[in-house]
Amino acid sequence: MKTQEELGVPVPANKPLIVRTIKYVTKEQREYALEKTEYSMFSFPADLIFVDFLSDSGSGTMTDFQWAALFHGDESYARNKGYYVLLEAVRDTFERGDDPKKAINLILTGETDVKRLMDELYITSYEGGFVNGGTHQLVRPNAFIVPQGRCAEHLLFSTIAPILKQKNKDITYYIPNNGHFDTTEANIVANGIKAINLFSENLLDDFPYNEMDRRNPFKGNIDVKGLENLIQDKGVESIPLIYITITNNTAAGQPVAMKNIKEVHKIAEKYDIPLFFDACRFSENANFIKEFEEGYKNRSILSIVKEMFSYVDGFTISFKKDGLANIGGGFFFKDRGVFHRKFSIDEDIGIKLKERQILTFGNDSYGGMSGRDIMALAAGLYEVIQEPYLNERKSQVREFARKLAQNGIPVILPAGGHAVYLNMDKFFEGSDMRLEDLGGVGFTIELLKNYGIRACELGPFAFEWDKKTPQQRKGILNLVRFAVPRNVYSASHIDYAVAAITELYHNKEKIPKVRISRGAELRLRHFQTGLQPIYND
Ligand code: F0G
Repeated sequence: MKTQEELGVPVPANKPLIVRTIKYVTKEQREYALEKTEYSMFSFPADLIFVDFLSDSGSGTMTDFQWAALFHGDESYARNKGYYVLLEAVRDTFERGDDPKKAINLILTGETDVKRLMDELYITSYEGGFVNGGTHQLVRPNAFIVPQGRCAEHLLFSTIAPILKQKNKDITYYIPNNGHFDTTEANIVANGIKAINLFSENLLDDFPYNEMDRRNPFKGNIDVKGLENLIQDKGVESIPLIYITITNNTAAGQPVAMKNIKEVHKIAEKYDIPLFFDACRFSENANFIKEFEEGYKNRSILSIVKEMFSYVDGFTISFKKDGLANIGGGFFFKDRGVFHRKFSIDEDIGIKLKERQILTFGNDSYGGMSGRDIMALAAGLYEVIQEPYLNERKSQVREFARKLAQNGIPVILPAGGHAVYLNMDKFFEGSDMRLEDLGGVGFTIELLKNYGIRACELGPFAFEWDKKTPQQRKGILNLVRFAVPRNVYSASHIDYAVAAITELYHNKEKIPKVRISRGAELRLRHFQTGLQPIYND
C-alpha cells in the first residue's frame, strides 16, 4: 500500500476555521463599478470581487500561531520586544539552517526568567552575519526594518546613488537582475541608475504540462553569459550591484537554481561586485530546489535557505510574500562584507542607511511597522519554511496551471511558485490584436466584468512599452498574472477561475482593445492611469 507521501496529492497542511462570506454581485453592478473606476484593476473595490488574483502580497491568511503572536505586540517607541524577536527570526531563517533558536517561544510561553530573557533575547551580541546584535548593531548597523519591500529598495538605492556620484559622476551605472520587479526598477531608475533584465533564454520554451511533477528547467535563472558580457561591455566600475530575484516574479514567477546562484556568486566574487537577493519568495524558491535540483531531496528547507543566502552579500525583502505577513519588509547586508567595504567611503554605510531609515520610516526598532505586525511577521517566518504548507501551496498553483493547459490555454509552464501566467502573445495569436492594443488589459477587464475575477496585466501596459527604446522593449514580456494568495482559496475557487478563463479564451474576439484615457505619461502608471476599452458593437 502507498504511504501518505506516495498518494500523489499533498497531505493537507491546514484547515480554515474562520471564513469570510463573498458578496453576490451581478455583472451589471460590476460593469457600473468598472466604468466609475476608469476600468483600472487597482481602483476596483475588492469587496465586489468573487476571486481576487491581483496579488499574493500581504493578501494571505495568517495562522493561529501568528494571531497569537500578534497579541504580544509591543508598541513601545524604542526597542519593543518584537524587534528582538524579529531579528532572531531573521537569523534563524537565513543563517542558522537546521539549528534555529526560536527565541520567539520565550515570549509566547510567557518566560519570566529575566536572566534568560537577557541572555537569549535582549542583551545578546552578534557580528559577522546579516543581523548584527547588541552594540555591533549600534556601531555597524546592517539590519533595517521597513514597512514593505519597496521601502527597502528606496532606502538602499537613494542612499547609494549619491555615493556612486561621488565615486564617479561621469559614468552611467547599471544594475542587472534576472528580472527586476516594477518597484525595484522604478526605485533604481528614480535614482539615476539603469536597470537591466537578463532573463533566462529558455523562459518562453514550451514545456509539457504532464511533466511538471517530474522536472523543472529553472526558467527564473539569470542569463550568466549575458551578465559576463554586460560587465565586460560596460566595465566593472559601472556595475555597483548584481541582483537575483527569488522567485523571478517578472519572469513568470519561475524559480532560480542553486547552480545558477553559485555561478553568479563566482562572477560577483571575481569582479568584486556585491551580490544581492530580492528575496521576496525565498522559501518557495528553496522548495523548488529541494524538489528538482540534484542533491537537495533530503535537505531541509532551512538548510537550503542557509546555503542560498551564504552566496549573497545582502538582500532586500518584502515580507508580505513568503513571510505570510500582511505587512513588512527589510534590508540586510553582511557585516563587513563587499557591500559594506565598497560603500563605506567617508562614513559607515550602515550609519548612513540608519539615518535615512529614521528620517523616512522611524526608529530602527520598528521602521514604520506596528509592534503587532512585527510579532505576526516574526511568527510567519517560522510558518513559511514548513514543508507540508509549501507543498500544498506549490501543488495548488501547479494544479491551476495544469487545468488551464489541459483546456488549451497558453499558460507559461511549468507553473511558478506563487502565480500562473498567461502568455498573451499566444493567447491572441491569429487575431488582429497588436501589442500596443493592450489586449492583456482588455482580457482582465472582461474577466472582472463577466465573472468577478481580478487578475493583473504584466506586459506592455504595466511595463510602459511605448516609453521604452527598442533595446529596453526586449526586456518586456506580454503576460497576465493570476497571483494566488497564501491559504485563502480552495479548489473550488480555482475551478471557477479555470472555467471563466476558458470561456473567455473561446470568445477572445469579443475582448476589447484598450486605450489609455488619462495619464499615459505617468510613471508606475498601471497603478494610476484611466483606461477605456473599445468595444466594436
Ligand atoms: N520584489 C518583488 C519580486 C516583488 O514581487 C515585490 C512586490 C516587491 C519587490 C515589492 O514589495 O510590494 O512589499 O513593496 N510584489 C507584489 C506583487 C506587489 O503583486 O507581485 P512590496
